[in-house]
Amino acid sequence: MAQPQASEGAETGKPPLRIGMVGYAFMGAAHSQGWRTAGRVFDLPLSPELAVICGRDADAVRAAADRHGWAETETDWHALVRRDDIDLVDICTPGDSHAEIALAALAAGKHVLCEKPLANTVAEAEAMARAAEEGRSRGQLAMVGFNYRRLPATAQARRMVAEGRIGRLRHVRVAYLQDWLVDPAFPLTWRLRREHAGSGSLGDLGAHIVDLAQHLAGERLAGVSALTETFVRERPLPDAPSSGLAAVSASGTGEVTVDDAALFTGRFASGALASFEATRYATGRKNSLRIELNGERGSLAFDLERLNELEYHDGTEPAAHAGFRRILVTEPDHPYLEAWWPPGHGLGYEHTFVHQARDLVHAVAEGRGPEPSFADGLQVQRVLAAVEESAEKNSVYTPIAA
Ligand SMILES: NC(=O)c1ccc[n+]([C@@H]2O[C@H](COP(=O)([O-])OP(=O)(O)OC[C@H]3O[C@@H](n4cnc5c(N)ncnc54)[C@H](O)[C@@H]3O)[C@@H](O)[C@H]2O)c1
Repeated sequence: MAQPQASEGAETGKPPLRIGMVGYAFMGAAHSQGWRTAGRVFDLPLSPELAVICGRDADAVRAAADRHGWAETETDWHALVRRDDIDLVDICTPGDSHAEIALAALAAGKHVLCEKPLANTVAEAEAMARAAEEGRSRGQLAMVGFNYRRLPATAQARRMVAEGRIGRLRHVRVAYLQDWLVDPAFPLTWRLRREHAGSGSLGDLGAHIVDLAQHLAGERLAGVSALTETFVRERPLPDAPSSGLAAVSASGTGEVTVDDAALFTGRFASGALASFEATRYATGRKNSLRIELNGERGSLAFDLERLNELEYHDGTEPAAHAGFRRILVTEPDHPYLEAWWPPGHGLGYEHTFVHQARDLVHAVAEGRGPEPSFADGLQVQRVLAAVEESAEKNSVYTPIAA
């Protein structure tokens, strides 16, 4: 079992939580930032240590270690998970390696943080959730990286829904829009190949909004009806490994084997209705995630392009002066903000990873099951599978497997 060791964190005097991270590109940088910063902003019970970073190319991983502040490197994740000087394995690789790495890490007694979507298939996610459950009985924790839960504004929205401020839920409306695939000359990176990514916009963007919608609603989807489309079916092969959303073309082309866009409607267990849109073809929209919840007593709306704000309409106020108001979510008693800047001095995307690290460190120290758990990640995977099944069957309403 991965218990923090008795030795003290070099700078903080607190017991260390020694992190081993696999993958060092987009999410690798974001998670490094989170681990580096969490203990410097929040008063944590354990001190996260950037112990070992792992990637397949020795020079590149050494450069990443220097840039992001990691002490040591490995070039094989098998060696990383076997090390007895690591407490937690952080998986920042494409979906095709999530299951293998997470299962090995849990078997080796480590805590695990795994990027979303949890896996590329429901079967993989089931095995991971099972292993996490077994690990839990040994004191190990496993969490999925649905980081959009950890913005002060979305966390505040969750708080307000739970307090009953919008009353009984009727609608959730959510769209996650990007445009980095509009150019048909953009190369065929791993995100466009089913064997690496599992699915396209659906697993990448759709997974986030399914999790966020269910988290804010406080309930789960019962079934979905879906349309998916692949607009550009052949793309140039990439010249070199891509990083994040950037890539360069070489000669030759290959087939796109994932969806470019997914639209679906859903029914919550309570009978509330939801609509979802996930696309990489919304020209001009870079990373636009908007969610609105309408309830019997009020409505809430959040837009990632204005991420320190929440719109709230209190439907119980007299009509003469009721209306949507803007809550600037920067007060010290808003979620996560007790340790940051004075009111009005906003946060950004990167802070979700700081808060993710903070919450996981607390869960490890306190022995609490972290949220979202691998079981939560499996349930999202089942929603994604139901979306694909519905789209293949002319949008027939498809219940989510229990
Ligand atoms: N939470 C978010 O906001 C968010 C944003 C982007 C990506 N993601 C998720 O993060 C994961 C990684 O995405 P990314 O954008 O960082 O991708 P990326 O292409 O930028 O980086 C992937 C990294 O994994 C490494 N890698 C690939 N296979 C490996 C293996 N077998 N062993 C060791 N290293 C390996 C690559 O070398 C690279 O360093 C995906 O699951 C993706 O869905 C989450």
